[in-house]
Amino acid sequence: MEFSIKHVSPEACRSACVIVGVYENRQLSPAAERIDQASQGYLREVLRQGDLSGKLGATLLLRGVPGCHAERVLLVGLGKLREFSDKAYRQATQAAVKALATTEAREAVNCLVELPVPSRNLSWRVRQAVISAEGALYRFDALKSKREDAPRLARMTLAVARSEKSDAEKAAREGQAIAAGMKTMRDLANLPPNHCTPLKLAERARQLSEEFGFECTTLGREEMERLGMNALLAVAKGSCEPPQLLVLKHMGNGGQGKPIVLVGKGVTFDSGGISLKPAADMDEMKFDMSGAASVIAALQIAAQLKLPLDLIGLAPCVENLPSGSATKPGDVVTTMSGQTVEILNTDAEGRLILCDALTYAERFDPACVIDVATLTGACVIALGHVAAGVFGNDERLVRALLQAGEESGDRAWQLPLFDDYQEQLKSNFADFANIGGRPAGAITAAAFLSRFTSKFHWAHLDIAGVAYQSGKEKGSTGRPVPLLAHFLLKRAAKT
Ligand code: BES
Ligand code: MN
Ligand code: ZN
Repeated sequence: MEFSIKHVSPEACRSACVIVGVYENRQLSPAAERIDQASQGYLREVLRQGDLSGKLGATLLLRGVPGCHAERVLLVGLGKLREFSDKAYRQATQAAVKALATTEAREAVNCLVELPVPSRNLSWRVRQAVISAEGALYRFDALKSKREDAPRLARMTLAVARSEKSDAEKAAREGQAIAAGMKTMRDLANLPPNHCTPLKLAERARQLSEEFGFECTTLGREEMERLGMNALLAVAKGSCEPPQLLVLKHMGNGGQGKPIVLVGKGVTFDSGGISLKPAADMDEMKFDMSGAASVIAALQIAAQLKLPLDLIGLAPCVENLPSGSATKPGDVVTTMSGQTVEILNTDAEGRLILCDALTYAERFDPACVIDVATLTGACVIALGHVAAGVFGNDERLVRALLQAGEESGDRAWQLPLFDDYQEQLKSNFADFANIGGRPAGAITAAAFLSRFTSKFHWAHLDIAGVAYQSGKEKGSTGRPVPLLAHFLLKRAAKT
């Protein structure tokens, strides 16, 4: 969808549809109030008759409202004024767009942007309007032989005050880049595993790098062997599909100073390997490359917005399968760092590919390294589908990520990394094991990674619970792209 910013009067603008809000208790938003006055109380009369409750997300489409030049007026329920929040604002926008998508309207004027949201400014509201609108229209039908008609809705005007125009335009550009990044992540992660092998994922990353203007190179098996990435290679061993390490670069600060490095887990299918997973819902392990997809999306966003920072994305990509050549429980490998690992469970593969990618990150002399991974089922048990888990060896970095999550509505929550957890990784046969038993599974996974991060400021995002949804709405959510994007925007603003 195209977005533009305009100062408009809701009753006088000629549009296919004007979107305005109504709180519970029939309280009109300012734009609704103006249309009500122009129409001599038409809206209040509709509300008095009880056709719209004002409940959050309820919608009512009116046509031919007297005194109003738009063909349609879409009333959107906002819930209680006193309870209006970030989430309510997003839900109202999404409900409006979903309702409009079922009409013939090709374009609309969105007046919900005027609504005050506690402790959020106009830029936030504009960004979120764009992201919510695009999110509401997202679908993945590339692999259906018969596609439903796309909604007509193609353009949206965000109505703002005259003085707000330039801030709003900047925010709209940011929102559009973030929304496009989320779409990229969702499209990649929703791909079935036969359409998204490590090589195919690398090919897509290359296409995106050309389209958006960031660098993309890849390392194959031989280079990994030369570098001694034996933990990564151990995971790839069971599959006929060769592993790939994507190296993406956006040098928006000319390569001066130290880069931010993002590392994304790219397991294109996680069967568990010899430690085979149960059959139920195993298809969802195609989403196990969501970390890699979010890193590719972050590079896309940085390139699209020409952010003045140096950003490097690393994505180790493998398929984790059982076979005659697969790694066995008990195998010991020497990681690129020189530390040895006893692979007691081949299903704890994410940390094995990440550890070598983290060691590889050292060569960039990073300002900080953030890894992103659907790493543990235990994190889903701890935090559900609400917040990603955050860990790190640098409190300031962790706090910046928590803050970015809070601002973007893509929340994260810190879990501890006390040294005591390292004991669970003890091995009789190698420096340490790749699993730490049932207790604190998300933490022992992070504790494993921390052994490869002594040379830089590091944080780890466990996104197993937030990257995708199961059930009827099965699919990628696009998280944690908003969190990463807000983090990068903040860093860019500081340089
Ligand atoms: N990809 C999984 C983690 C996962 C589980 C993501 C459920 C999303 C939903 C990871 O590779 C894995 O299998 N982890 C194991 C670790 C265990 C063997 C220590 C897990 O969480 O069970
Ligand atoms: Mn696994
Ligand atoms: Zn996995």
